[in-house]
Amino acid sequence: MAKKPKAAGNQNIITLWPTILLAKRYAHYQKVNPSLLELFYQHRDREQDKPQQAYASGDDLLSKYPLHDELNELAEFISQGIVEVAKVANEGLWRSGEKVRVNITGLWFQISNNHAFHEMHVHGNCSWSGVYYVRSGDCSKSPDSHRGEQPNGTTRFYGPHIEHMAGGFGDYGNYYLHDSSWDSYPEDGKLCVFPSHIKHMPFPYNGAEDRVIVSFHAQVFNSSGSQSYDYGFNN
Ligand SMILES: [Fe+2]
Repeated sequence: MAKKPKAAGNQNIITLWPTILLAKRYAHYQKVNPSLLELFYQHRDREQDKPQQAYASGDDLLSKYPLHDELNELAEFISQGIVEVAKVANEGLWRSGEKVRVNITGLWFQISNNHAFHEMHVHGNCSWSGVYYVRSGDCSKSPDSHRGEQPNGTTRFYGPHIEHMAGGFGDYGNYYLHDSSWDSYPEDGKLCVFPSHIKHMPFPYNGAEDRVIVSFHAQVFNSSGSQSYDYGFNN
């Protein structure tokens, strides 16, 4: 079931295996975010004994607060974003006009400050993952690395080329390998959906206000409820 490679401008060249991400702003973020912040801080203050640099809730927020309007509105926006990017990624493979269903398998929030961060990681048992910035605080908008500015709270994604840089041969011919990461600069209401296997890392964050995000994992099914594979890992 190979997808036809797309030809570049030059007919002799084929471009293979691009990495696709979605980044867009939620039109209703100014309505939804204040209510989410209220919910998240109330939840954290109930669950956490003493203040820490970072707090992460359990990933069962949707089942914990099934009647929370704004949380459900955000989940719907996230599901639509996943379909939007998955449709492009699977162009030529999904049957045309077929309806797909998104199952958000986990959704949680994180509040961080005082240089909190996570190391580089990937997400498992899902096809798409993402981050929604509820409050970006003092996160970098676009740091000037030439002036020595360090990213603050930026989410960095690493492409497959990162595997070939350490100890690899570098010359002008493989200069493109240096294009191995992409930064998502947090903005209030911005959603970023990425393939779950893509390595990523949030830079340490420090600011007057906390950095508050929602993270999620999701699986996508077709109308028959299957994942469309002739073979599978779980069947
Ligand atoms: Fe992550």
